[in-house]
Amino acid sequence: MIYSRIIGTGSYLPEKILTNQDLEKIVDTTDQWIVERTGIKKRHIAGDEEYTCDLAEKAARNAMQMAGIDAKDIDLIIVATTTPDQVFPSTACLLQGRLGIHGPAAFDVQAVCTGFVYAVSVADKFIKTGSAKRALVIGAETLSRITDWNDRNTCVLFGDGAGAVVLEASDEPGIISTHLHADGAFENMLRVPSGISRNYGALREGSAFMEMRGNEVFKMAVTTLGRIVDETLEANNMQKSDVDWLIPHQANIRIIQATARKLRTPMEQVVVTVHEHGNTSAASVPLALDTAVRDARIKRGETLLMEAFGGGFTWGSVLAKF
Ligand code: UT7
Repeated sequence: MIYSRIIGTGSYLPEKILTNQDLEKIVDTTDQWIVERTGIKKRHIAGDEEYTCDLAEKAARNAMQMAGIDAKDIDLIIVATTTPDQVFPSTACLLQGRLGIHGPAAFDVQAVCTGFVYAVSVADKFIKTGSAKRALVIGAETLSRITDWNDRNTCVLFGDGAGAVVLEASDEPGIISTHLHADGAFENMLRVPSGISRNYGALREGSAFMEMRGNEVFKMAVTTLGRIVDETLEANNMQKSDVDWLIPHQANIRIIQATARKLRTPMEQVVVTVHEHGNTSAASVPLALDTAVRDARIKRGETLLMEAFGGGFTWGSVLAKF
């Protein structure tokens, strides 16, 4: 049996910080409302000349450094992003060029906030089938570019960042299972209603922004993430108590707390970073993972449950031995 093991993690947050107090000056909101309803205190915003690939590259290099490998050892690159640098080439190809890797497959995956979970699942299948030996999997976003800074319903929620893992083929247990889902019937609850082929004008005018029916998304996220946690454990004949760490998508502290309650996991075993950087979409799970690996909370041999929910709707989970 071939497993994919996480042999390195990395992350990067842009230098510029936007606090809740800064937002109070931009829209009709308060620090108290944002903290009480979301848990978010600040978010990082990419510089004008800083793009998704720049964030991805820094996170990837950190992950490769921890793994103790060189870029030439990578034979698959997958970047999960909703905010690619450009229409094409993919951000994964741009990154491949910067890393000086020539030949192996490189592509983007678009599943919004579930993007990293989707990308890990795809990379795991490449490794399990022998198609790749060492994969670089990255979630990277510059959501600030698709945020309407006049809309208090959304602009307080999102931030920019990147997180990465290096996966390596191993005969020791690593990723145990992955579970992916989507339901396009809910496309209008959370979306950017314009793009290349549709409403192209908005893109040209720089007004291709996120829209969200927040409260409805919130309720769906809570019930769906509860279900995915059950599905993941049942598929592996495992008990809730077998999970050492819950590493959830960082959208809202109240959603995270609800999922932890469902798992009966004390909050001490839940990695929470949402207060530090808001919702960074595909970057949020690997950012949280890297934080808890680097501060030595997560140790080798422990069981991790990663989960995410986002636009599409898409949702999914990764169960892994670290
Ligand atoms: O990552 C992908 C998945 N995304 C999510 O998981 C996000 C899910 N949604 C949420 O996290 C929450 O629904 C929000 C944080 C977006 C909103 O919290 P809520 O408790 O669902 O509030 P609400 O939308 O029901 O709005 C309550 C009130 C409204 O005012 P009225 O109509 O009661 O007078 C809003 O207009 O809060 C108002 N409001 C704000 N007030 C101050 C909305 N945004 C703000 C704001 N500051 N930034």
